[in-house]
Amino acid sequence: MTPLNWDEKYSLNVKEIDDEHKNLFFLFNRLQEGIITGKSRDELGTALSELIDHTVLHFATEEKLMQQFSYIGFVEHKRVHDDLIAEAKEMQEKFLQDKIELSGKVSVFLTDWLKDHILDMDKKYAPLFKSKGESK
Ligand code: FEO
Repeated sequence: MTPLNWDEKYSLNVKEIDDEHKNLFFLFNRLQEGIITGKSRDELGTALSELIDHTVLHFATEEKLMQQFSYIGFVEHKRVHDDLIAEAKEMQEKFLQDKIELSGKVSVFLTDWLKDHILDMDKKYAPLFKSKGESK
């Protein structure tokens, strides 16, 4: 399990979004660190909950701007967001019911999802957001 390090390749040059993505990286790394160092289930549950809560808030930020700017890919992008949240909450529910442990497998799922989503889907709306003045 390696930490998610922020790199310019993840930047959309849209400050509000980049700041939220950086915060998600931070929260993810804190959760992963907790898994590696054997934190208690309560502590891991809190870290997972914060990561999911901030992801929900972040998606709402993006979706509000996509709608405001009439982004053509809004429906598909929102569907992907909704699927991820449903999957993350299902995982959280299983963890809270002691049906799963948070492990490297969970960590890999979240890492890949975060990186791939930013580099693929989020990058697509960046030119529109910037053209509307949502830049650094
Ligand atoms: Fe930055 Fe579409 O999530």
